[in-house]
Amino acid sequence: MNTIHAAGLSAAHINEAAQYIEEKTSQRPEIGLIMGSGLGVLGDHIENAVTIQYHDIPHFPISTVEGHAGELMIGTLSGKTVILMRGRFHMYEGYGPELTAFPVRVMKALGVKTLVVTNAAGGINLQFDSGNLMLISDHINLTGKNPLIGPNDDSLGVRFPDMSEAYSKRLRAVARDIAEGQGFTLREGVYVGLLGPTYETPAEIRMLRTLGADAVGMSTVAEVIAARHAGIEVVGISCISNMAAGILDQPLSHIEVMETTERVKSQFLGLVNALIAAI
Ligand code: HPA
Repeated sequence: MNTIHAAGLSAAHINEAAQYIEEKTSQRPEIGLIMGSGLGVLGDHIENAVTIQYHDIPHFPISTVEGHAGELMIGTLSGKTVILMRGRFHMYEGYGPELTAFPVRVMKALGVKTLVVTNAAGGINLQFDSGNLMLISDHINLTGKNPLIGPNDDSLGVRFPDMSEAYSKRLRAVARDIAEGQGFTLREGVYVGLLGPTYETPAEIRMLRTLGADAVGMSTVAEVIAARHAGIEVVGISCISNMAAGILDQPLSHIEVMETTERVKSQFLGLVNALIAAI
């Protein structure tokens, strides 16, 4: 019997989506990648890429944000078979957390063991500068939502998943070594996930700093929760695309986010490529 999830998605839906993807390619990915705003460029480096549009995949939502292409790519990157999401689903688009996390569950059904999540985020830590890359050491879920709400399907994971090492210590150490070898400063800190789509007020940023957050964004937490539920090892990288509201005397804009991610593209690509090779 299939458990019905809050959005009406069951293991059967996950398997139908996975089966559709498996019919499009004989490649079987072990690493999943979710690319944030402006970071989908990594997809251009995939060899033997098979590209599938989200709207062709059964039960897949469709990404509506500028800078998010809305396609899945499967192929070889740094010698590994990967599945890459160019564009992700945000709860501010109106998707429930279980839809936001659905592709992660499909990845699991396809055999993915490790997930690399990336995002653009606002820098809360005053030591940070826009353009820094930040290794996510942990997250704070302030979205008020969770993809696991509803009956638990024990075939997908346990009812009460442990989140004490949501972001793999092992892979964080690997990422630090890579950054050192490549000669750039890799920041490390706590990512706080909010619902959006408004950027935060300066008062909210001061509150988030007090709560222990180093960077803020509108994605990632639901995907990582679903990944940990599924027993997938996670490594996360934020591109600090702007300093958070109220830190600099200037308004925030999605254009700035896109411009910064474009500027740090090569450093980002260098880190992620090396990380994939080392996984
Ligand atoms: N706040 C929230 N989300 C973001 C930001 C920010 O400052 N920058 C990029 N994504």
